[in-house]
Amino acid sequence: MHDPELEKIPHHLAIIMDGNGRWARRRGMPRIMGHRQGVKAVRETVTACRELGIKVLTLYAFSKENWNRPKDEVSALMDLLYDYLERELNEMLKNGIRLMAIGEIECLPQKVQDKLAAVMKSTSSNQDMILNLALSYGGRAEIAFAVRKIAQMCMEGKIKPEDIDEDLVAKNLYTAELPDPDLIIRTSGEMRLSNFLLFQAAYSELYITNTLWPDFDKQELIKALQDYGRRERRFGRIGESFAKACTAIVS
Ligand code: FPP
Repeated sequence: MHDPELEKIPHHLAIIMDGNGRWARRRGMPRIMGHRQGVKAVRETVTACRELGIKVLTLYAFSKENWNRPKDEVSALMDLLYDYLERELNEMLKNGIRLMAIGEIECLPQKVQDKLAAVMKSTSSNQDMILNLALSYGGRAEIAFAVRKIAQMCMEGKIKPEDIDEDLVAKNLYTAELPDPDLIIRTSGEMRLSNFLLFQAAYSELYITNTLWPDFDKQELIKALQDYGRRERRFGRIGESFAKACTAIVS
């Protein structure tokens, strides 16, 4: 069925996957069951995004702050991540998906780092979609990382302070190779960015749904994309319809 609201598909979609714990609590289950169900939602979302023609999908899978969770939960999340990478490699190869990762990857357990590196290498020439996992990721830490690199270049005399502009900062973020997200979805109703893509989100559209992440599926994704399709992105300018009305008045 032709859906005109799906004609404007975001190039880069980023998702704050929230609500796994609540999903489990509501069922009287341990939190890890929510995360396990969350992996199913990840699989369905990745497949749906590829089918719908999204070119970059960034998933906030583990924040820097998440290290403060109980040890058992952190280690269960690392195991889930490892299993996901191991099981999905063939699917990624079959579907032309390239894996990338942003964050303090060096803080992850060695086993997960090795698996990530292997999957990124095997999928590096895939061109249909980039799946970018934010792991041990924090937006402020990312900005500090970029500032450190730029300060180093200044000290080495490679650039002058007056050469520093928004573009140079963007090129030194973890996401240097990626465009800014057009749309950021957050599940479970919270109205926060939670330290996610702070620099890159400057002009992103935001979509908040009350659906908990483990219940997120293709239908929920399509609802978000339809909502995005109805919006007019203005990047600080006046809207197109408003501009036309103004032209009509003055001419
Ligand atoms: C937020 O729910 C979710 C996380 C902190 C982790 C997200 C991880 C997954 C979906 C699974 C592993 C990921 C991949 C890519 C295989 P929460 O625990 O904060 O939920 P709550 O706010 O209801 O407690």
